[in-house]
Amino acid sequence: MANEQPDAIALLKADHRKVERLFAQFEAAAGASKKQALANQICTELTVHATIEEEIFYPACKGKVEEDRLNEGYVEHDGAKILIAEIETGSPEGQFYDSKVKVLSEQIERHVGEEERPSTGIFSQARAAGLDMDGLGARLAARKKALMAQFATEGIPAPETRTFTGPDLEQSAPVDADVAKVKRGFKRPGEAALLFTYRASSHRRD
Ligand SMILES: [Fe+2]
Ligand SMILES: [Fe+2]
Repeated sequence: MANEQPDAIALLKADHRKVERLFAQFEAAAGASKKQALANQICTELTVHATIEEEIFYPACKGKVEEDRLNEGYVEHDGAKILIAEIETGSPEGQFYDSKVKVLSEQIERHVGEEERPSTGIFSQARAAGLDMDGLGARLAARKKALMAQFATEGIPAPETRTFTGPDLEQSAPVDADVAKVKRGFKRPGEAALLFTYRASSHRRD
């Protein structure tokens, strides 16, 4: 009897193609509610995909695939999670919302290219190393199903990084703020450093 279950690489590649279609739909979409729905779907798909790769596929590749390729993959996932968090908490009416989705799509395109690169990519190296792709495919599918069900009832959780260590970031002056005016307002030279902790709310009180 034919095995209906896709193997690990087929499953992960199908995820890649799906999110590419969603990014294309977002680019063509008009209207805030349509854009928000598509962006939420993109963030859900990417969060589930990164989770199953990080929990199941990448660990199975350890020792079989060049360590640098895997380490870069983890860091690329964490980079994408920053934009996913921004999009998840942002509004389609926000000045940078569309740009964040666009830049996320470019980051993902590059990352997917790395995973799928013939011969030297993670998938090719894993295949060549003889990983049990059918067994891994079944585990990935089961975990994906459970995560989709969980997110459908609880929403997408805040992204969890695996390599970024979470140093505090402060929002500096908004792009359109008069930064020169803010700087002139400082009494001592050293206060210029405070520009980097300047917040939009203090500017609005001027
Ligand atoms: Fe992937
Ligand atoms: Fe990935």
